[in-house]
Amino acid sequence: MTTTSLQGTPIDGAVALVTGGDRGFGRALVDELLRRGATKIHATSRSPQPRRDERIVPIVLDVTDEASATAAAQAAHDVSIIVNHAGIALGTPVLEAPIDRIREELETNLFGTIRVTRAFAPVLATQSRSALVNVLSVLSWLSMGTGYDVSKAAAWSATNSIRVRLRDQRTTVTALHVAYMNTETTAGIKAPKADPSDIASAADAIASGALRGPGRRDDKDDQLKALRGSQRTLRGMRCQTINRETRTQTGYTTILRRGRRRLQD
Ligand SMILES: NC(=O)c1ccc[n+]([C@@H]2O[C@H](COP(=O)([O-])OP(=O)(O)OC[C@H]3O[C@@H](n4cnc5c(N)ncnc54)[C@H](OP(=O)(O)O)[C@@H]3O)[C@@H](O)[C@H]2O)c1
Repeated sequence: MTTTSLQGTPIDGAVALVTGGDRGFGRALVDELLRRGATKIHATSRSPQPRRDERIVPIVLDVTDEASATAAAQAAHDVSIIVNHAGIALGTPVLEAPIDRIREELETNLFGTIRVTRAFAPVLATQSRSALVNVLSVLSWLSMGTGYDVSKAAAWSATNSIRVRLRDQRTTVTALHVAYMNTETTAGIKAPKADPSDIASAADAIASGALRGPGRRDDKDDQLKALRGSQRTLRGMRCQTINRETRTQTGYTTILRRGRRRLQD
């Protein structure tokens, strides 16, 4: 997880919203935020969901729909933490897949993130401290040759732009670059995968505002094992990493430090 602000946003007592918070990694994040004392979580899904905990408020949200994002921001006007977790991977080889399929990935993973952020930025501005977390991927930095990678790389850039634009309202903008996790999306992939509930501990970075969480150099870290698994998969598929800096975990750390220095001025 990367962040440029050293000031955190308290989770204890906070109200949060997690897009796609009903299943997959989003559900694990909801549970982690509750464990850390959040009093209410708006958990969104494209279809109405039953309430599984009195602290969880289900909200219907399709991030590809402007009116839906506006309605969600009106309903959840009390949040100080937003997690843009909703995402899709359609397996779209970038030179062969129908452009419309790639556009769908961008519509959800990139424009969906921007759309929700735009809708909620004024809500976050009413809080003395607030946080926005975008769930991205190591494929923001590596390429497997698909539209998904394109969408996550673009969403990484969008995260940096949003960070600059929300700095004055004291919203800390963070990206979580995840390797393989064990969710429905990766059911067919044979590679080491991290447990989503372990990765959800990256919520540390919301509270501390510090450069923390999975993705740091730590051989014991499950996420690093999953990251290596991803790299092995990439090598197996004869895919290339984009540049030297992104080949190793040290490289990730370097690129993060550089990005951080650049945005900290
Ligand atoms: N699994 C991995 O290995 C992995 C690795 C790196 C990054 N990620 C990222 O982690 C996030 C979640 O992945 P996951 O594995 O947990 O996927 P998942 O189990 O397929 O869940 C996807 C989530 O996104 C929501 N969603 C999809 N399209 C949406 C839309 N148009 N509007 C609103 N919500 C929408 C879904 O909500 P509903 O279906 O309930 O509406 C669901 O909660 C994604 O951003 C993904 O790119 C995952």
